[in-house]
Amino acid sequence: MAKQNPYAPTPADRFTFGLWTVGNPGRDPFGEPTRPRLSPAQIVELLGQVGGVHGVNFHDNDLVPIDATQAEAEQIKRDFRKALRRARLRVPMATTNLFTDPVFKDGAFTSNDADVRAYAIQKTMNGMHLGAEFGAKTYVFWGGREGTDTNVSKDPVQATGWFREAINFLCRYNRDQRFGYRFALEAKPNEPRGHIFAPVTGSMLGFISTLDLPDMVGVNPEFAHEQMAGLNFPQVVAEAIDAGKLFHIDLNDQEAGRFDQDLRFASQSYKHAFFVAKLLIDYRYRGPKHFDSHAYRTADYADVKAFAAGSMRSWKILEAKVYRFNRDRRIQNLLGKIHHDRPQLARLTRRYSKQNAKAILNAEFNRKKLAARPLPYEQLDQLLFDLLMGVR
Ligand code: NOJ
Ligand code: MG
Ligand code: MG
Repeated sequence: MAKQNPYAPTPADRFTFGLWTVGNPGRDPFGEPTRPRLSPAQIVELLGQVGGVHGVNFHDNDLVPIDATQAEAEQIKRDFRKALRRARLRVPMATTNLFTDPVFKDGAFTSNDADVRAYAIQKTMNGMHLGAEFGAKTYVFWGGREGTDTNVSKDPVQATGWFREAINFLCRYNRDQRFGYRFALEAKPNEPRGHIFAPVTGSMLGFISTLDLPDMVGVNPEFAHEQMAGLNFPQVVAEAIDAGKLFHIDLNDQEAGRFDQDLRFASQSYKHAFFVAKLLIDYRYRGPKHFDSHAYRTADYADVKAFAAGSMRSWKILEAKVYRFNRDRRIQNLLGKIHHDRPQLARLTRRYSKQNAKAILNAEFNRKKLAARPLPYEQLDQLLFDLLMGVR
């Protein structure tokens, strides 16, 4: 009997791709497409051939071009629906393209032009209907043009207010229409604009607490975006989990200091990718794992399929490594030695009271002894390396 592939993905893994990711034709700012464009239905078919995929996500205009007629739109949707059924794929997430069309050249919700701001809200409401037609339950907001190329052009406090108004408005529309969406705000520090508002996930987390319906809104952190800013993505994910706001996640990769690469997940930063997997597993993240990346410009569609399969395979391999790490006696022993629990003290520091404050003020600590406690992180980190490299 043939040996089963232990890393084969299944729909239960909730792996998703975007029409714009596997369907990326290989265009970059300096070069024309290197792959023929596929229709939405063809992209779904391709994902069906890859196998094990849970769903496919779209921007409104990935599915229906911005200038399509009503009849064209209906035909595209019919073909797409048929392809979804054939490939047994769902649409867990939808979003709005508020960045490609020239009307958004100076922003959408934060444009200085009230007509553009209202048009962006209208376009998003229509996009929400489109997503709902296909059963999407997460609605992502990535404000690619929400920013400036020169700070002289906008009052950023006023712009933040406009952004808040738009999200508040759309939250209420979501409720009125009973779409049942959870909104996920996605930050990106730069590209395509010089300066982007709310550039990191932490900015979004702060912003959410100022909204009218904050429970409806969470974040969609992207690996590459935070990495681009030189941040530690596992920490970003941890903060979103801690805030109860990890509604969606974009997995890909990025080398620091480069252009927006959108590399295949775990193709570059193995260690960070491992710790992202560890967080999602240890804290039981159950949402979609969306691979927001695209194949190298050199790839043909056979290679694009390998890219999609590879993204999922890398996750499954890292997942197995996480379980191994959590079971590894030596690693766990070392971790145990590093953690010093003192229940009596923990009780005191858990919550402030006058008595607890007094007790802590009276407690005796031997600074020198505490400083001398061993922290064998070199050993631990080497064990991690051995484990990741497969020699442990
Ligand atoms: C394209 C961006 O590159 C990506 O990061 C984002 O998640 C999607 N658009 C959603 O708008
Ligand atoms: Mg990206
Ligand atoms: Mg993204």
